[in-house]
Amino acid sequence: FIAIFVVFPLKFMDLRERMSFLLVLLLLLAPAHSYAKAAEIVVFAQVGNSVTLLRKPWGKNENIHVNWYFNDQILIYRNPTASTQNQAPPNWQGRISLSTDFSLKISPVTENDFGIFECVQYELTDRTTDKYKLYQVKMSTPPPLLSGATLTLSCEIEREGFNLVHPSIHWLGPDDKIQNGYSNGNKYTLSVIKASGIHNGNWICVVQYGANSILNATTNVVIVEKAPVNIWLVVAIIGGILVLILLAGIAVIIICRHRKVMKYTRRKRRFCCCKK
Ligand SMILES: *[C@@H]1O[C@H](CO)[C@@H](O)[C@H](O)[C@H]1NC(C)=O
Repeated sequence: FIAIFVVFPLKFMDLRERMSFLLVLLLLLAPAHSYAKAAEIVVFAQVGNSVTLLRKPWGKNENIHVNWYFNDQILIYRNPTASTQNQAPPNWQGRISLSTDFSLKISPVTENDFGIFECVQYELTDRTTDKYKLYQVKMSTPPPLLSGATLTLSCEIEREGFNLVHPSIHWLGPDDKIQNGYSNGNKYTLSVIKASGIHNGNWICVVQYGANSILNATTNVVIVEKAPVNIWLVVAIIGGILVLILLAGIAVIIICRHRKVMKYTRRKRRFCCCKK
């Protein structure tokens, strides 16, 4: 459309007209370009973990005003001439803070935080705005497993964010071994056959996107060791039982003997009495 718009009138103009036409065209297009809606910066986060929205370096830190918004609601601001802080909205209180470079740290992230954040910075009359969109990464929490069973973990990256940045994903176990698993679109799965005690603990789904943007999504895995069958314990118990039976047998024999002896002496005594 623009090509037709530009080329068609050019045919009917002389050189000077052409030049001024192009100049006007440039002036028209230039501001349109600079006001074009800036793309949102993709940021991944997991509920329960923390995330930092990095402010882009801009202006002189000692001069700038920084305002952070969530879905157009002011969250936190920084004013270089005042030391006071605003009250964060109730559902954000105690969860947000500004780092020294005015990046926004959210800890812990909740289900309701997956929206659009905006960082507006002013220095005198200059102003710049960055928008961020928080996307969710969900990780399964497997139930406690007996050692020897297959451990299956999944890590799902919100589809829209996944399609925008195509992150690369790998897994890190408690044994610090990197594993790759397999993927189906935005869903990643890892199976550990014959899980054992070394797999008990914190598993990380490492979502890497961009040059140095990493989300460590985590989940805790509990592997229950099967009670070890201690052969010596079994031997000791059986041995103990045998000894008890033996002692009981001996006791019975002794008692029987004792009774016989008693009967014999009684009979003997009776004899004696009769003789008298
Ligand atoms: C992710 O976890 C690994 C292993 O514990 C650690 O070395 C790395 O610093 C973590 N990265 C982030 C961004 O938390």
